Amino acid sequence: MPISSDLYRQLGRASAGAVSVVATYEAESDAIVGLTISSFVTLSFEPPLVMYAIQRHTASYAPMVTCRSFGVSLLNVAQSDVARHFAKPRRACGTQMPFDTGREVRVPLIPAALAQIECVTNDVFMSGDHAIVVGLVEAARTSEGEPLLYFGRQYGNFSPLTDR
Ligand SMILES: Cc1cc2nc3c(=O)[nH]c(=O)nc-3n(C[C@H](O)[C@H](O)[C@H](O)COP(=O)(O)O)c2cc1C
Repeated sequence: MPISSDLYRQLGRASAGAVSVVATYEAESDAIVGLTISSFVTLSFEPPLVMYAIQRHTASYAPMVTCRSFGVSLLNVAQSDVARHFAKPRRACGTQMPFDTGREVRVPLIPAALAQIECVTNDVFMSGDHAIVVGLVEAARTSEGEPLLYFGRQYGNFSPLTDR
């Protein structure tokens, strides 16, 4: 017997994660579509694959799972306003925010992010009410800085333990 939705939500709050934005150019309109995620994972060294999960009932679901390429921007601790913006319902993505464009793959990327990753869609797996989107990394850049984290419905920073 599966657990209740309340207990499942508690599990979500107990799980800390790094915050990223995934984005693409919508095929027909060429408008930027993107959303804030905490499900980004580096998946495979050879070939270099990354993945994230997207909820089926989000407005950005169809463009994100059908796109041929997407960008992942791992946000830095000073970018919580960007994370809030891309988590808002009915947000306008392309008009209010500056974007970089990938050098190898034409994907939208957040300027000054901790990492910018240019992906070609490699696989999409359906699982429960989410799709798992796997990308082949064609180019990536990292910058110095601290990650933006999310825990217990709050944004925060990483502070290393001093006694180890
Ligand atoms: C910190 C944080 C992490 C999130 N992680 C995910 C995620 O991994 N996958 C997902 O589908 N939505 C995630 N969301 C929700 C989306 O950002 C967004 O709110 C949702 O897609 C609804 O917008 P839409 O229907 O306009 O696309 C997250 C939201 C926040 C604030």
